[in-house]
Amino acid sequence: MKFPITVYGDPVLRKSAEPIGPDYPGLEEFLAHFWETMYYADGVGLAAPQVGLSIRVFVVDASAMADEDPSLKEFRKVFINPTILDYAGDPWSMEEGCLSLPEIRENVSRPDRVRIRYQDAQFNWHEEEYSGYVARVIQHEYDHLEGRLFIDYLSPLRRKILRGRLMAISRGKVSPHYKIRVPA
Ligand code: NI
Repeated sequence: MKFPITVYGDPVLRKSAEPIGPDYPGLEEFLAHFWETMYYADGVGLAAPQVGLSIRVFVVDASAMADEDPSLKEFRKVFINPTILDYAGDPWSMEEGCLSLPEIRENVSRPDRVRIRYQDAQFNWHEEEYSGYVARVIQHEYDHLEGRLFIDYLSPLRRKILRGRLMAISRGKVSPHYKIRVPA
């Protein structure tokens, strides 16, 4: 089953998401559908608020970047109850997109490294450091759990230029290849 993707204008994307425990009902099944949704929508990451659930869960599959960084060949991870403990390194810019902001791509500057503490799908704790592309994807997905979107980092002028397109998205006047949930 694939979930519809929530888009700009949906209040769930602006909420701070809630932690979950091992007793969260149907987590294994949810994660299976969640991965399926991400792959079908051609995402490299997906955060639970993007399928309408305000819980602290995101997934990342960076294996497509293995050409540039062979260590990413098997990178497919579930992050539960994450906290970014530290941001470090020189900020750099890259064009980002987001399944919740269809057809919008903008350059976003982010620090190069993060240290993150999180639980895996078995609720074991991990503390890891990432840099480069994966650190960027992790920051983007983590932001979704804090109610932030990449457009928040743009200059006021850039945001003004995008205003019309953002309004159109919030009214469902956009046609990505995946199913969206238009805000009420
Ligand atoms: Ni996103």
